[in-house]
Formats: sequence, C-alpha cells, structure tokens
Amino acid sequence: MDLLLCLLLSLTIFLHQPWAALEADLRSDMGSLTRELLESAKEREFFEWMRGVRRRIHEYPEIGFEEHKTSELIRAELDLLGIEYKWPVAKTGVVATIGSGEKPFFGLRADMDALPLQELVEWEHKSKIDGKMHACGHDSHVAMLLGAAKLLHGKRDQLKGTVKLVFQPGEEGYAGAYHMLQDGALDDINSIFALHVLPLIPSGVIASRPGPVLAGAGLFSATIEGKGGHAAAPHMTKDPILAAVFAILALQQIVSRETNPLEANVVTVGLIEGGQAGNVIPESVKFGGTYRSLTSEGLSYVKQRIKEVIEAQAAVHRCRAVLDFKEDTPLPYPVMVNDEALYEHAKKVGESLVGPSNVQLLPVSTGAEDFSFFSQKSAAAMFTLGIMNDTVKSDQPLHSPYFVIDEEAFPIGAALHAAVAITFFDSHVVGTD
Ligand SMILES: *[C@@H]1O[C@H](CO)[C@@H](O)[C@H](O)[C@H]1NC(C)=O
Repeated sequence: MDLLLCLLLSLTIFLHQPWAALEADLRSDMGSLTRELLESAKEREFFEWMRGVRRRIHEYPEIGFEEHKTSELIRAELDLLGIEYKWPVAKTGVVATIGSGEKPFFGLRADMDALPLQELVEWEHKSKIDGKMHACGHDSHVAMLLGAAKLLHGKRDQLKGTVKLVFQPGEEGYAGAYHMLQDGALDDINSIFALHVLPLIPSGVIASRPGPVLAGAGLFSATIEGKGGHAAAPHMTKDPILAAVFAILALQQIVSRETNPLEANVVTVGLIEGGQAGNVIPESVKFGGTYRSLTSEGLSYVKQRIKEVIEAQAAVHRCRAVLDFKEDTPLPYPVMVNDEALYEHAKKVGESLVGPSNVQLLPVSTGAEDFSFFSQKSAAAMFTLGIMNDTVKSDQPLHSPYFVIDEEAFPIGAALHAAVAITFFDSHVVGTD
C-alpha cells in the first residue's frame, strides 16, 4: 500500500516536473496563439484591408529609393493604427515600434521596391506606371507586415519585448538593407525575421532551411578599349570585339576549372554592347554580368579572377580593360545565412500555424537578397511563403511580367510574422532558446 502510494507520488512528481510542464504549456500556448492570430487575420474586414493595401501599392510601383508614395501609404496606415515610427531611414524607409520599449528587440522586415518591368497581367489592379511593376511580391510583403503590425498592436500590452517593423527601400540591387544599417536605426535589434513570397511552392506552405540559403552576389561590367577603324584593314586597328569574345569565353573556365565542383559558384555574362556596322571595327566594347557563391571565400575568389581574366585577355589582344564592380552600392551582397536557432524557432511557429506537413525544407538557391546584410549583424532568418494556386494561375516565376500572387495566403504571412515575434519574447523570458 505504502509502496504503491510512493510510486504514485513519484509518478505525479515526475509528470509535473517543472520543465516538462513548462514546455507542454508553451506548446499549447503556441497552438492557441497561432490559431487566434490566423483567425483574426482571416476575418473578412482584416483580410480585405490587407489585400487593399497590397493592391494600392501594386498600382503605383516605385523602384529603389524612390518609394515615396509607398512609404507615405505605410506611414498613413501606421498612423491609423496608432503605431509609432521613425522616418526617414535610408531615404524612404520606415521603422515602427510596438511593445514594452525594453529588450529584447525583435525585427520583422518587408522590402518596398518594385522592378523596372512592364506588367503584362491584365487585371483590375494592373500597374498604372508604364515600365514598372511589383513582380517580386514586395507589395505583398508590405501588406503582410502591416497585417502583423495590426495583430501585434492588439497584443501590445502582453509583449515581453519590443518589435521593430522594418520597411526597407531598394532591395532590387540597391542594397537598401545596408543603407538602413548605416543609418543606425536598427542598432538595438539582435534578431530579425523576413518573409518572401514564392510561386514555386503551393499556397500557404512555408519553407526555409538552416545555414546558407541564398548566394552572395555581385555585378561586374567591363569596357574593353581598343582602336577602331575600317573592317577591311584589321591590322590598322586593335579589335575590341575579338578581345571581348575571348575574355567572355575565358570567364567560363573560372567556375568549371578553378572552383570545387561540389561548391556552388556562378559567373554569367548577361550583357554585351559593341559595334554599329558590319564594316567598322569599333573603339570599344562593353559587357557585364553577375557572379555568385554560397561562401564568402568563393565570392572574393571569383571576383578577383574575373578582374584578372578580363584584364589579361584584353592585353593579349592589345586592348585595355576597365572593370567596375559597383563597390559603392555596396556590392557584392553577402551570402544569406539563416541563424540555426532562429530558424528552428520560426519553423516551430510555422508548424503550429499551418501544420507540420505544410512546412518544407527549402533547397539552397543561387538567388540573392540584401537581407543578408542584416544577417551579418544580427541573428537572421528568412522564410518563404508559397503562393502557387492553380485557380488564380499564380505559378509564374518571380520577376516575370506575368507574375501573379494568391492573395489568400496573406493571413498566414501576417500571423507568422506576429507569432514568430511574440513567441520569441516568451521563449526568451523563460530561457528555453
Ligand atoms: C486558391 O484560390 C482560390 C480562389 O481564390 C481559393 O478559393 C483557394 O482557397 C486557394 N487555395 C489555396 C490552397 O489557398
């Protein structure tokens, strides 16, 4: 009898062991939190507001560092919600603050800029600006982050830390993230999360991976200067066309012969301009491209070799090469590395939100993102949100003039942002991360 009692008692104590209980509590708390946030964001009025924000931005796309209207719209919505913000940060950027005002500071980021691209989708909210389009989903990123702002504002008194909502300009080749960091507005943030829509995966599915996820990437352009003249007398000229052709061919050997085939590197020439007539040898030829790598060592090696190969090939053909790596931008963008602990945290939140079978491991890609500048300074994690849906034909790639978004995914994006921040604070406080 006593023995049985003893056994029962110790079993009870074991079951109520504080840590196990705390973890179970956190899990069920997480479940009710994600359910509540998602239900709020799916409410008709809430959803239509988010979708409306996205459509208004979509109609007036603005390219890097010209996002004045977009920035104004963001500030107007924050004003309506009663959320404080700092502006301007890096020209058009906005950093809003919600929560206790105390540590820890958790960042949520959305980029704001569009692309110099003519929209070819015929729909009610087609871009009204010729030659500009939100073809990379940044309009939806802003809408979902404003959605998160509304959700977080509703819980502002319960937040055990401070959320910084980072609306960033100039992601498409302007290193807007770098310029925001330079402005110092993000100095107190030590963890930051971002979401990117992705038409490769089904609507509502969430995907990412720990560690390197996107390549570091730079741009180069080369001008080969020769000596122009009559095509009938090549010996009187220094032909820059031939020098450029040899240089471009020689560039192909950098990746195929000099770098480890098991490591990913890319050199692509995507532009060549030279000559105007078949019977004239031009003075100069310009060409340019991109180089990428999944390691920072790879990135600097490939960059160095591009310079050496082009200069040497130009010299072989009695020409001179002038290289430009746009280092003032600054370029290259660093490799995007997801912090492992933050990745695990956001993955758990995602699983709670959409179910474990709807959270996938994202393959590494040689795409690039200036969010990597944040990842060099803070623990950072970038996740993707699937938007592919046959009904709305949203399966066109990013940067396509036919790019379409399944807007039904927005509530998931808004709830994910908000839940990642809220539970980050909770786990921080009890010290389980
Ligand atoms: C796809 O789009 C249709 C039409 O908007 C919607 O009813 C459906 O829920 C969407 N599917 C998913 C998986 O989101």
